[in-house]
Amino acid sequence: MKGVILAGGLGTRLQPMTRFLNKHLLPVGPNPMIHYALSKLAESGIDDILLVCGKKSAGLFIDYIGSGREWDVRVSFTVQEEAGGIAHALALAEGFVQPDEKFIVLLGDNLFEDSLADEFARFRQRPEKAHVFLKEVDDPRRFGVPVLDGTRIVRIEEKPEQPQSSYCVTGIYMYDADVFDVIRSIRPSARGELEITDVNNAYAASGMLSYSILRGWWLDAGTHHSLWEASRRMAKGEME
Ligand code: G1P
Repeated sequence: MKGVILAGGLGTRLQPMTRFLNKHLLPVGPNPMIHYALSKLAESGIDDILLVCGKKSAGLFIDYIGSGREWDVRVSFTVQEEAGGIAHALALAEGFVQPDEKFIVLLGDNLFEDSLADEFARFRQRPEKAHVFLKEVDDPRRFGVPVLDGTRIVRIEEKPEQPQSSYCVTGIYMYDADVFDVIRSIRPSARGELEITDVNNAYAASGMLSYSILRGWWLDAGTHHSLWEASRRMAKGEME
């Protein structure tokens, strides 16, 4: 079973360290941040992983991860030449998944407690083509925010001034291989990036987006404060 870890981006909110080091190599507790995405996918039964990183630090990812043997998975690497957004990075995984295959996508700075194994098994059985995980947060304006109608996501608003719910859309996604056609159909946003929220909205519009809510803790370690919080949790040994 396959998973993709997206570990590119500029890490602007984590400067100055990220001027010379990819943020996913910053320490979180005893390990570089990227360790947790690998162990989470391994724990969820994923054994074939594609890691997409930027040019900066690409060699260091290989130094640390090697073949993936330490996590009992196979890891291959691809480089996103310029920071063109999450959906742009995901497009590079075309060819890694089979035409009829469903797979997991993780943003490498998303750290969380829940196992994905059961939900991935359910998603593989269901007709929906995309699945997102929601989490209730104090400040949804920092994230993609779902507009909910009963059991359905009507649409997702990216970093809205006035959030329509107190949930955020986390950086944990499940898709089938049609996602590459969907990415081809979207256009860059005002900030010039191919947004994963636009991809998910295409699925929401066609009734093919399902969701679940994370039960355990979840963090996006992309800011100094949340990175500190992530370190605190990992140092306490909440996740090995
Ligand atoms: C990205 C997504 C956003 C999502 C977040 C989760 O935002 O665009 O929808 O809620 O990841 O970590 P970014 O952190 O790239 O600003």
